[in-house]
Amino acid sequence: MKNQYQNPLFSSTKLFNARLHLANLISYFIFFVFGLTFGIIISFYLKDMSLNLQVTQFSFSASTSSTPPPLSLSLSLPPPPPPPPTTKTPNNTARIGLKQYLQLPEDLMHDMNDKELLWRASLTPKIHEYPFNRVPKIAFMFLTRGPVLLAPLWHKFFKGHEGLYSIYVHSDPSFNQSEPANSVFRGRRIPSKEVEWGNVNMIEAERRLLANALLDFSNQRFVLLSEACIPLFNFSTIYSYLMNSTQNFVEAYDLPGPVGQGRYNRHMGPTITIQDWRKGSQWFEMDRDLALEVISDEKYFSVFQKYCKGSCYADEHYLPTFVSMRFSEMNSNRTLTWVDWSKGGPHPSKFIRTDVTVELLKKLRSESNCEYNGNSTNVCYLFARKFTPHALDRLLRFAPRIMQFNR
Ligand SMILES: *[C@@H]1O[C@H](CO)[C@@H](O)[C@H](O)[C@H]1NC(C)=O
Ligand SMILES: *[C@@H]1O[C@H](CO)[C@@H](O)[C@H](O)[C@H]1NC(C)=O
Ligand SMILES: *[C@@H]1O[C@H](CO)[C@@H](O)[C@H](O)[C@H]1NC(C)=O
Ligand SMILES: *[C@@H]1O[C@H](CO)[C@@H](O)[C@H](O)[C@H]1NC(C)=O
Ligand SMILES: *[C@@H]1O[C@H](CO)[C@@H](O)[C@H](O)[C@H]1NC(C)=O
Ligand SMILES: *[C@@H]1O[C@H](CO)[C@@H](O)[C@H](O)[C@H]1NC(C)=O
Repeated sequence: MKNQYQNPLFSSTKLFNARLHLANLISYFIFFVFGLTFGIIISFYLKDMSLNLQVTQFSFSASTSSTPPPLSLSLSLPPPPPPPPTTKTPNNTARIGLKQYLQLPEDLMHDMNDKELLWRASLTPKIHEYPFNRVPKIAFMFLTRGPVLLAPLWHKFFKGHEGLYSIYVHSDPSFNQSEPANSVFRGRRIPSKEVEWGNVNMIEAERRLLANALLDFSNQRFVLLSEACIPLFNFSTIYSYLMNSTQNFVEAYDLPGPVGQGRYNRHMGPTITIQDWRKGSQWFEMDRDLALEVISDEKYFSVFQKYCKGSCYADEHYLPTFVSMRFSEMNSNRTLTWVDWSKGGPHPSKFIRTDVTVELLKKLRSESNCEYNGNSTNVCYLFARKFTPHALDRLLRFAPRIMQFNR
């Protein structure tokens, strides 16, 4: 194009100037027409957009829609303001990670009612592999009336094994003494309700204990104990026994006669039939999977709530029946808590001071024979009851030596 103006044919500079002028005018005109068309298109586009925005209930003012902003304005929008100057650099340690999400409140006392607690405790990971090093713990759950009477013996038992156990105590709500400052039981009391022994609300208390213990994801095995229970082995032995166990320890047997099948109520059918009915000790030991099933059960528990009252003794039948009906293949059907029924009557023998001897403790540790993970063993019981506070001083004298506490 430029060559045209330098063509030697246009000798007159005047003519050349006029032509140049015309060419400029034309190019201005073309530029103007382009600009106008562009402007019209843009204004239509903006009108259309503002209409759409109004239709979709966005809070755009009417002025924006009637007078589209000049193009120059939208082109010369100020750059986004720089982020406000930060006085401190980002602190990585203050960021929220998985640890914070899993953090439990320090205090075991909470205001959740049972319905809320059971629901919260039933939340469970679907991915079974933990994305961190999870050290499994045993939850020792004490169901007591008042204080844990044999606490000094348990102190010796737990000493040196911090991080491998957690303690939960469900005592009568009227019991308000606090544990000494250095006690492992201090601050381990969970919100409780009054428990009538043998009644269905005893199972509620057991479920409450399980649910509170399930909130801690590192609890893997759950053992229910009374204030009259003692350990029969040292912590390491009990820990290995439970962590290696492929089975749960919920005692369950079928017993004809008045104190077994005789307690069955036919209104429990067809959910629970007389063939399903089982009896057993309420002092159980179970793994996390079964604990989750127990606190989530509504079907069988509601039948017990309705039809197992008074001399039905729900605490001796609910778990044996429920576990036998639903999870019997994982159950050893035996209890880990030794008790002496040999003297007969409705209550087992109590061991007072003079009953506690080296021979007795040795006998309880290894006298019988039973099955463990499909093999025969003479370690059938890890705990024993019922020991009175009067037996404490002799227990403290013999137990650490026989049970090899911390050696
Ligand atoms: C980061 O936060 C932690 C705890 O929140 C604090 O101890 C630490 O001093 C902070 N570090 C910096 C550099 O701000
Ligand atoms: C404990 O309860 C008793 C009544 O049962 C009451 O007299 C006492 O003041 C309570 N003590 C504390 C520390 O709350
Ligand atoms: C399971 O048993 C094996 C062999 O007896 C032992 O080495 C291991 O430490 C046990 N596991 C636990 C968690 O104690
Ligand atoms: C426990 O009892 C059930 C029957 O209720 C049975 O199927 C199961 O095999 C028993 N488990 C063991 C380990 O004996
Ligand atoms: C249990 O018995 C099986 C074979 O039945 C054997 O392989 C296993 O080592 C035994 N376990 C123990 C702890 O003795
Ligand atoms: C626990 O007792 C066993 C024997 O039952 C013994 O071999 C072991 O050394 C004891 N462990 C501790 C930590 O004392």
